[in-house]
Amino acid sequence: MNITLTGATGFLGRRLVRRLLAEGHRIHLLVRHAKTGFGPDVECSIWNAYTMEPEPEGLADAEAVIHLAGEPVAQRWTPRARRRILDSRTVGTRRLVEALARLPRRPPVLISASATGFYGHRADEVLEESSPPGKGFLAGVCLGWEKEADAAGALGIRVVKLRMGVALGREGGALAQMLTPFQWGLGGPLASGAQWMSWIHVEDLVSLVVFALAHDQLQGPVNGTSPNPVTNVEFTRELARALRRPSLFSVPARALRLLYGEMADIVLASQKVLPGAALKAGFEFQYPQIRGALQNLLA
Ligand SMILES: NC(=O)c1ccc[n+]([C@@H]2O[C@H](COP(=O)([O-])OP(=O)(O)OC[C@H]3O[C@@H](n4cnc5c(N)ncnc54)[C@H](OP(=O)(O)O)[C@@H]3O)[C@@H](O)[C@H]2O)c1
Repeated sequence: MNITLTGATGFLGRRLVRRLLAEGHRIHLLVRHAKTGFGPDVECSIWNAYTMEPEPEGLADAEAVIHLAGEPVAQRWTPRARRRILDSRTVGTRRLVEALARLPRRPPVLISASATGFYGHRADEVLEESSPPGKGFLAGVCLGWEKEADAAGALGIRVVKLRMGVALGREGGALAQMLTPFQWGLGGPLASGAQWMSWIHVEDLVSLVVFALAHDQLQGPVNGTSPNPVTNVEFTRELARALRRPSLFSVPARALRLLYGEMADIVLASQKVLPGAALKAGFEFQYPQIRGALQNLLA
């Protein structure tokens, strides 16, 4: 299959490109910088989702488009950063969909990233794809991002909005950030630790994207989370266990807010998200439990 990707140089994109190449797909990247490190098997066109229209040649032969690009959210949410986080996703997705509309032959499927941030802070409520959006900055970003992706549906394209949870992998994302304090024996629960964390092993997330390409019944919102979310206390215990380190030092919510401002919401918000759509379509998780996932990643 000819697949065009955005955001391919990021933590998830790199894993995904490697998997798609291994499965024999032809890949075209829309990237901001020509140096991707992928080598000659991967074609590239320059596209900055924020500021440019994508070149038609990057999309003309596409049989599927996977759209991951977006300004990192793990930074202090200054007014400028908020604008970049929002616009790189909303304006970027709008530009991509407008470019798809101009194609004489459109790809049948668009898989567009979203996040469990869509649900906001929801205490112990079980969240499924049909749950309404939450409140807060990230929920607003996800809502706007998904709305722009939905416009591709009106063009006859199957749109999958992948609401990803915390993707766990060694090479980036949240786990890589957490390892250092734990390895120094300084890790521990965040705030009360009662908040739910909806996580997914990065390999399962990559597999879910590949599964969504091939399974037409997946359409609309799809939660990209393991079937077994854990509280922060449970996650901390399992991480400490996998690293054979103590987890004694809890970090008060107030300290997190002082350090990171409103961005601390990323780790303080409680989201107990279940992957109903993926399970119903027959997707099988290789790492459904946090213990097995962390053991695999940290062994
Ligand atoms: N990792 C997670 O746990 C997680 C969870 C939920 C949702 N997500 C979402 O999934 C997507 C991919 O995640 P990731 O962890 O792979 O992200 P990442 O490592 O930050 O990579 C994102 C990619 O987006 C592009 N990008 C960055 N800033 C941009 C900007 N200002 N304007 C346009 N493009 C920009 C870059 O690609 P180029 O330089 O190649 O253009 C970058 O490689 C993101 O949209 C993220 O919000 C991730």
